[in-house]
Amino acid sequence: MKTVITYGTFDLFHVGHVNLLKRARSLGDRLIVGVSTDEFNLNEKGKTTIVPYEHRVKVLASCRYVDLVIPEHSWQQKIDDIRKYQVNTFVMGDDWQGKFDELSALCEVKYLPRTQNISSTSIKQAMSVLLQLNRELQ
Ligand code: CTP
Repeated sequence: MKTVITYGTFDLFHVGHVNLLKRARSLGDRLIVGVSTDEFNLNEKGKTTIVPYEHRVKVLASCRYVDLVIPEHSWQQKIDDIRKYQVNTFVMGDDWQGKFDELSALCEVKYLPRTQNISSTSIKQAMSVLLQLNRELQ
């Protein structure tokens, strides 16, 4: 059994997330996703989400490529998670290129190409532009 793990916020679940999860899952037999808690996002990543943690977990758990969802509440937990779940491959999008190379002492580390022209941030920006446009049209 080959286990793959990845981490992220996954706010406003979009096709870039789907592509990443599908590719990650294809690298093994089961995919574990560490979902950043609201506190971790706020205190460590300096961002807030539209979709609260519990809902992001439900969305991810319903994705056919995801076998298990766990909370991500610290940067340091990755080493423990890799050992606990006997992870073979650690995967992140290539916006994180090089950031987790030290984990290669424990398992294979792979950075996958991001899907172009989509992100949670760009969706939020598009939403605020649309809201403004609608306000002006009223
Ligand atoms: N990801 C990807 N392609 C995208 C967006 C995200 O492959 N277009 C990947 C990231 O590289 C990461 C995972 O999906 O491995 C979760 O990313 P996350 O930060 O939740 O998504 P973003 O849309 O990049 O969010 P934000 O705009 O808040 O940074």
